[in-house]
Amino acid sequence: MVSGLFPVVLNGAATARRGQILVGPVDLTLNGGGVCVVIGPNGSGKTSLLRMMHGAARLTHGSIDWACPTPQARRAQAFVFQRPVMLRRTVRENLAYPLRIRGARRREALKTAGDWAERVGLGGMLDRQAPVLSGGEQQKLALARALIIEPELLFLDEPCASLDGRAMREIEEILVTAREHGTRLILSTHDMGQARRMADEVAFLLHGKVHEFGPAAEFFTRPGTPQARAFINGEIVE
Ligand SMILES: Nc1ncnc2c1ncn2[C@@H]1O[C@H](COP(=O)(O)OP(=O)(O)OP(=O)(O)O)[C@@H](O)[C@H]1O
Ligand SMILES: [Mg+2]
Repeated sequence: MVSGLFPVVLNGAATARRGQILVGPVDLTLNGGGVCVVIGPNGSGKTSLLRMMHGAARLTHGSIDWACPTPQARRAQAFVFQRPVMLRRTVRENLAYPLRIRGARRREALKTAGDWAERVGLGGMLDRQAPVLSGGEQQKLALARALIIEPELLFLDEPCASLDGRAMREIEEILVTAREHGTRLILSTHDMGQARRMADEVAFLLHGKVHEFGPAAEFFTRPGTPQARAFINGEIVE
């Protein structure tokens, strides 16, 4: 895998809508490798931060500098949304689509789609219409559709919200494998168990700002602020 995206440097980066700051200003440097878990209360700016970094929300203040030109950086990224959007086509065609728009031949794309369906446990559902899959199956499909382009960086916005323990474990296994293959993950979650299992580093957001950022082991054992400590303990943080 090419390693051209990192480090990425956010300098006073913010996104605003109708004059209202959704997240920022954020100063943050992320290096390559591992899983960055983004946590924080509802409305603290997790989704906005991921969208801003990916370019899905307009950067209205500051800068985000990837180690390569931004258009190139975007092509090396994929995004899994909280509620997956499926094409009204089969599982196989949903998986082949990102490859097709990147210029792969149909035959090749369909074959790779089959391989990936197998990998995420959807091998038996290739000809099923994607919108009729269960929530957990759709989330696996969304994940495979993101990973199929072998992104250097994958954003995941609460990928396991409303999934049961088994589906969550299956998704986490897929993510761990992707990580082992060198994909950098930036993942938001409300699930502290998931945050502890997955995180190499943690960004704790509060009121649209990065309140704490650091190695996961340190964050979970010695949080630097009372708000982070309270949040980890499941208390309400406002
Ligand atoms: N499209 C939008 N237009 C206006 N305000 C928005 C928009 N999207 C988000 N916001 C506001 O920006 C702030 C941050 O929202 P965001 O969705 O990023 O938070 P979050 O941490 O992902 O929350 P949650 O845990 O509920 O998913 C909130 O105050 C929210 O109301
Ligand atoms: Mg959100």
